[in-house]
Amino acid sequence: MTALVVDRIGLLVTNDETVGEGRLGIVRDAAVVIEDGSVVAVVPAGAAGDERLDAAGACVIPGFVDSHTHPVFAGDRSAEFAARMAGRPYAAGGIHTTVAATRSASEPELRAGLRRRVAEAHRGGTTHLEAKSGYGLTVEHELRLLRLAGEITDDTTLMAAHVVTAERAGAAEEYVDLVCGAMVEAAAPLARWIDVFCERGAFDGDQTRRVLEAGQAAGLGLRVHAAQLGPGPGVQIAVELGAASADHCTHLTGADVDALGGSTTVATLLPASDFSTRQPYPDGRRLVDAGATVALATNCNPGSSFTTAMALCIALAVRDCGLTVEEALWAATAGGARALRRDDIGRIAPGARADLALLDAPSYLHLAYRPGMDLVLATVARGALVWARPGP
Ligand code: NIG
Repeated sequence: MTALVVDRIGLLVTNDETVGEGRLGIVRDAAVVIEDGSVVAVVPAGAAGDERLDAAGACVIPGFVDSHTHPVFAGDRSAEFAARMAGRPYAAGGIHTTVAATRSASEPELRAGLRRRVAEAHRGGTTHLEAKSGYGLTVEHELRLLRLAGEITDDTTLMAAHVVTAERAGAAEEYVDLVCGAMVEAAAPLARWIDVFCERGAFDGDQTRRVLEAGQAAGLGLRVHAAQLGPGPGVQIAVELGAASADHCTHLTGADVDALGGSTTVATLLPASDFSTRQPYPDGRRLVDAGATVALATNCNPGSSFTTAMALCIALAVRDCGLTVEEALWAATAGGARALRRDDIGRIAPGARADLALLDAPSYLHLAYRPGMDLVLATVARGALVWARPGP
């Protein structure tokens, strides 16, 4: 067995209170011993191993868990972004532009684009990505996107209920029938989750419920896009059906906050999309104070949030959603793991997957304190170095 030791870590965040101090499980002057892609021990600095990665006193954190992305697409919507910044509101209609571009792209083109985004995510310290379909909207095209997502990313989600496809405009119920029938049936072997955009202009409460129940019957876990552009029934449905996550949560009612606070449904905040669509930011403070489990994710997609930068999401969550840096870092790592109902990621402890990021910083505080800076020196995913900043 070959051991990799990440040594001379000045400050290690383990997210495990049995390994270190406090909720972040902090250990100082540590080394992490890795074998066969998993963490086998957290020990004092100076441990021996066949291979050694020298952190030289830097801070090491669990790799980011990006639990909400739409990364399989073609085309460019920068002009839509510019128009939005000039005053036009964000509307889900832009999704059709990406659907057209994605359908006409070849599989190698889509694969190459997805690989670029995943490599970019690794450079930013992300080691686990959930990836949604949703830019195909026919059985054939949705399956193509799920297959690609499954080749390259970690958790796949059927999101055929993104918008009603243009070919069935005005026939939403017919499209929902297709999603609940042929699409769910064909996609179930390729996906772990099903997701619905519950929003005015996309799917209403009854349609959302139908899609989720069809997915559940086929063995898929549930996720919901809820209260992104305005209040709606999404959070209540998510909680009632035991969804793993209600995502966006930008326009919550008091009842939504209470429901999330009293449930196992994670509130996943996507502040980079509120940034890029000039929406208000979700009230993360209120959710945490109500007892909700909060996750942070990028929502990487070509329309509302074209970024894979989890550090940006942390900075926004601290600056604009009212989270402390500790809460935001936990949400971007352990919170994402909870949102995906996994206990093998989001922490650095014996038995967990060896996913971690070495920061060019003495403390994780720099993730929010130095916004926009490229702070990741190296990223290790499943025990392998997937990114290392070239030397000076
Ligand atoms: O989460 N809200 C729905 N889906 C994406 C946006 C997709 C797009 O505009 O292409 C989101 O923001």
